[in-house]
Amino acid sequence: MYKDTQTGATAAPLSISRLKKMKRDGEKIACLTAYDASFAVQADQAGVDLVLVGDSLGMVIQGHETTVPVTVDDIVYHTKMVARGLSRAFLVADMPFASYGSVEAAYSNAARLMQEGGARMVKLEGGPVQIGLAEYLAGRGIPVCAHLGLQPQFVHKLGGYKVQGREASAAEAMRDDAKRLVEAGADLLLLECVPSVLAKQIATEVSVPVIGIGAGPDADGQILVIYDILAISAGKRPKFSKDFLQSSGSIPAALQAYVRAVKERQFPEPIHEFV
Ligand code: KIV
Repeated sequence: MYKDTQTGATAAPLSISRLKKMKRDGEKIACLTAYDASFAVQADQAGVDLVLVGDSLGMVIQGHETTVPVTVDDIVYHTKMVARGLSRAFLVADMPFASYGSVEAAYSNAARLMQEGGARMVKLEGGPVQIGLAEYLAGRGIPVCAHLGLQPQFVHKLGGYKVQGREASAAEAMRDDAKRLVEAGADLLLLECVPSVLAKQIATEVSVPVIGIGAGPDADGQILVIYDILAISAGKRPKFSKDFLQSSGSIPAALQAYVRAVKERQFPEPIHEFV
């Protein structure tokens, strides 16, 4: 049971049905990554609805240049720690690079993230190639978040990190993939670095929550890497991110400011969008 530090009110842990209801009710879903118990507690107490143990940990925790070196053991390790810190937020864990190349591998790795790590959903990157996989996992009790748009695990294939879905044919294909993944059983979609107009279309066309990162204000929710909003990630901060620490003065206040900005539709601003 979660206790709000400001009001003292208690709330049950969030479920996928509750996140779907938030979409139906037009309540924005505030999401962040976290990788350890201390930040998980802070995110939970700030009112973050969904916490992702992202394979971004390969970059912000492990210091790699990409997410490709991250292993299933790494994600299990960090998911266990985050799970211990959460009371209310819905916990999602990333399927890392090369952990879902076959349905058998995907099933056993996803089961580890849930059974050992405590995740309630797994996220995997990929479009049409993952439709069968989403159906396989969802049909066996493993909730799936499908990650479309920029897929960082494809960095070596793409030759860099680029906005996706700008051309009409690519946008059409992404809309189609989104609908087919949801029909196959995906309970959540994540769109990374896509034009705002495309994210809006997809969010309107599917029944499940669409969480955006660099996808404009009309996604059903927003997610950012926690170290980016605290401005402690090494290197240049992505265009779609914002430093919430500078104007807040403390980590708890920064996380609360982020949640409030998402809920009140103050974030993302036009400077964070792609066209
Ligand atoms: O790994 C991650 O943190 C992610 C976010 C960019 C959403 O997938």
